[in-house]
Amino acid sequence: MENRDDLNSILEFLPVVLRSSSLFWPSQVVEALKALSKGPDHSQVHSGQVLFLAISDLRQSLTLSSDDLAFSTADGFSLYFDDLMSRAEANKWFGETLPAMADSLLRLPSMLEAHYKNADSISCVDSRYGLKTGLRLLKSQEAGVVLLSQELISALLACSFFCLFPDSPRGASDLQVINFDRLFASLYDNYNEKQENKIKCIIHYFERICSSIPVGNVSFERKVLAVDQNHNYIPHPKAESWSKSVVSLCLFEVCSSGLIEDHSKEALEVDFANKYFGGGALSRGCVQEEIRFMINPELIAGMLFLPCMADNEAIEVVGAERFSQYTGYASSFRFCGDFLDKKDTDIMGRRKTRIIAIDALVNPGKRQYKHDFIVREINKAFCGFSDPCKSHQYQILLKDDHFSEAELDHDLKSLESNSDNFLEIRPSANIEDEVGIATGNWGCGAFGGDPELKAIIQWLAASQALRPFIVYYTFGLESLQKLDKVTKWITSHRWSVGDLWNMIVEYSSQRSKKETQVGFFNWLLPLLSADDPMILDS
Ligand SMILES: *[C@@H]1O[C@H](CO)[C@@H](O)[C@H](O)[C@H]1NC(C)=O
Repeated sequence: MENRDDLNSILEFLPVVLRSSSLFWPSQVVEALKALSKGPDHSQVHSGQVLFLAISDLRQSLTLSSDDLAFSTADGFSLYFDDLMSRAEANKWFGETLPAMADSLLRLPSMLEAHYKNADSISCVDSRYGLKTGLRLLKSQEAGVVLLSQELISALLACSFFCLFPDSPRGASDLQVINFDRLFASLYDNYNEKQENKIKCIIHYFERICSSIPVGNVSFERKVLAVDQNHNYIPHPKAESWSKSVVSLCLFEVCSSGLIEDHSKEALEVDFANKYFGGGALSRGCVQEEIRFMINPELIAGMLFLPCMADNEAIEVVGAERFSQYTGYASSFRFCGDFLDKKDTDIMGRRKTRIIAIDALVNPGKRQYKHDFIVREINKAFCGFSDPCKSHQYQILLKDDHFSEAELDHDLKSLESNSDNFLEIRPSANIEDEVGIATGNWGCGAFGGDPELKAIIQWLAASQALRPFIVYYTFGLESLQKLDKVTKWITSHRWSVGDLWNMIVEYSSQRSKKETQVGFFNWLLPLLSADDPMILDS
């Protein structure tokens, strides 16, 4: 089989076995799946209780012990499918959806074979040629892309549902649990409606997939800021390069209502992530990241092969389809029906939905005003917001040794004329360049960050990454009432990234030393109002 290295890196995490260079299910598993695929009259699986027994048998055939599953998994399955689900829905689930899932599991080995064969042909991701795209472990500090068909993802997620992924090797590789046992066990252990509604989203996804298999692709990319001079990687900005940056600030639009995932223009939609991609999606979590994983469940597939993020890393997913509508947040989260995702697709068959996972500092408290921590946050955001195709431009922009815009323009122009490929230097009419950032209170809710500080950091990072705009959803947060005014003032005075960076660093230093207690905007306002008395009228 082609791409043997790729397969070897992931094989111990997959339920299928490799025999004489082909992938197989053990024969007992094939028999059991065949029975399931023929429906409840054949398999006798017509309740959550029996379903769990079938799962235990499948696991046993794969030499996985059911002791490794979360304690209340059986009760969770039974509660959901036998008590909470209506009889009509359960008939559809056991009669149609589950058999179709079993059928897709039967085809998993051949889907994987086809996947590795395809991934071997020269692929081109976002105008980067010759990238490997095979399913493999995307280890920390190794930038790379995995491109999966939506069909293969649905089979992998069916493995999660049946709890067929080996549990034991994952922890040692910094990978989260990928089976759905805890999702169901948590429902039973501590019944609450949000958990039931999370499961409803997942069940809805399988119902949709089984009635019509989507034909697109989804890519998962680990983005890494280079620790050394690796030219294919995004350069790692030093603190001095932020303070000297002459890049202009991008457009900043404030929306006090609306949600990132409903943003209509193509943008990098920020996932306020946990360093473990997906956070508590498969356990009890139900805030911004977890909700996104429930309404776009294909994101879950990334949890299979994307270990924990380091400070200089981000994860970008392009093409995940949205299947569900919802209302609420955290304990008020509710599934409220089908969602038809009408986003266009790109030449690789990916929906033009770009989700960027960046993990903010957790409960930073006063630490967040310390210089090293501001640098950590801005470089994390820069890593996420950057476009790896522009690494050369970033390198030039981050060099510390040009002091004027004219000199910078000269360097950029010489890059343009020297390069063989056409390189877009500044945001312009190019379609790619229309991709801005849609974000909000990153690292501020459960993570406890300062929203004013975080908004400015994201603006700086987006600008330095040459993004044309940032759309900021405030979720009506009180402390951001002045955001629009302040960003408009700054924009009208044409501050550079360096100018604003130096302000936020000065403010943070005073805040650290307890020389000021006010928020950044109030700290900045007297300075602004000396110039423009109008700013204080609000
Ligand atoms: C998905 O990706 C594969 C592999 O690169 C490609 O052959 C296929 O055409 C893509 N699908 C679509 C719908 O573009």
